[in-house]
Amino acid sequence: MKGESLTQFIIREQRKSPKATGEFTLLVNDVASACKAIAHEVNRGSLAGNLGLAGSENIQGEVQKKLDVITNDIFIRSLEWTGHLAGMASEENDEIIQIPSGYPRGKYLICFDPLDGSSNIDVNISVGTIFSILRAPEAGGNLTAEDFLQPGTQQVCAGFCVYGPTTMMVLTTGNGVNGFTLDRDVGEFILTHPNMRIPEDTAEFAINMSNQRFWEEPVQRYVAECVKGKDGGREKNFNMRWIASMVAEVYRILTRGGIFMYPLDTKDPGKGGKLRLMYEANPMSFIIEQAGGASSTGRERIMSLTPQNIHQRVPVILGSRKEVERVVSYHLESI
Ligand code: AHG
Ligand code: MN
Ligand code: MN
Repeated sequence: MKGESLTQFIIREQRKSPKATGEFTLLVNDVASACKAIAHEVNRGSLAGNLGLAGSENIQGEVQKKLDVITNDIFIRSLEWTGHLAGMASEENDEIIQIPSGYPRGKYLICFDPLDGSSNIDVNISVGTIFSILRAPEAGGNLTAEDFLQPGTQQVCAGFCVYGPTTMMVLTTGNGVNGFTLDRDVGEFILTHPNMRIPEDTAEFAINMSNQRFWEEPVQRYVAECVKGKDGGREKNFNMRWIASMVAEVYRILTRGGIFMYPLDTKDPGKGGKLRLMYEANPMSFIIEQAGGASSTGRERIMSLTPQNIHQRVPVILGSRKEVERVVSYHLESI
């Protein structure tokens, strides 16, 4: 080592706001500890018998992998006792997660996807954990799912951890985006990517092309242009990447720009999109916007949406600002 550790970094940030009690700092530290424990289990893979199916489905009707269940348990067990949370909401749990009686209740809420990209687990491709921290309503009484239904603009913090060739934590508290690499020798995340910025322009797009026949016209138009490149009126030729792991996709965009789309489609009518607003779209949108990028459903800024339920799905178009604006303009023109 060494650079600044994540702990040092968040304490330094805390000292900038004289009213801070330190509770938030401790919460982020606890989230980082949960991610380290998850990184360990993901990394052990078959050695710990962690790969394969769990034999169950989640609320969204998705088949759960063993690691979906293991990482969800790690996240909940790591945070429920800390006294910093009033409740949690997980992609893998039907209902919100109450803090067990016997543990103090704190002033924050956390929404999380314990293992994003889990369809990639058995093929050894990057997966990750995504989280979003909100303030709990002041009033006492029982916490309900409605308390979580705050627009993304209310997020206090968002982050993700990507378990790839290196384990990285990417974090925003509304003051830019910083990236930390896990130094396994000392067990700490070290600030290696300060102030991450997304280039405005890009020549790289990411979309699941197998859904093409289900897309709406504006997305058809945009992707057709990208594919044709200079032969289709664009000023450049495009490259395509699709990892099927949003954490890896967003990390790539933070590193070298790009546009990622999981748009509205007619494959599963009524679903409203594939990605989940509270566990995936909102936290990633906060990070992308804080790094100078943009994030939209094609029609609205994602972070302005008022969630209707905790498992709501939304279309997602995010990344380099000018390309996202172009896709949004195609949606507006098609009205
Ligand atoms: P999860 O593993 O948490 O269910 O999320 C997977 C998401 C996202 O990471 C990825 O962009 C998308 O689903 C891939 O979906 P398809 O391969 O079904 O298109
Ligand atoms: Mn996910
Ligand atoms: Mn998941």
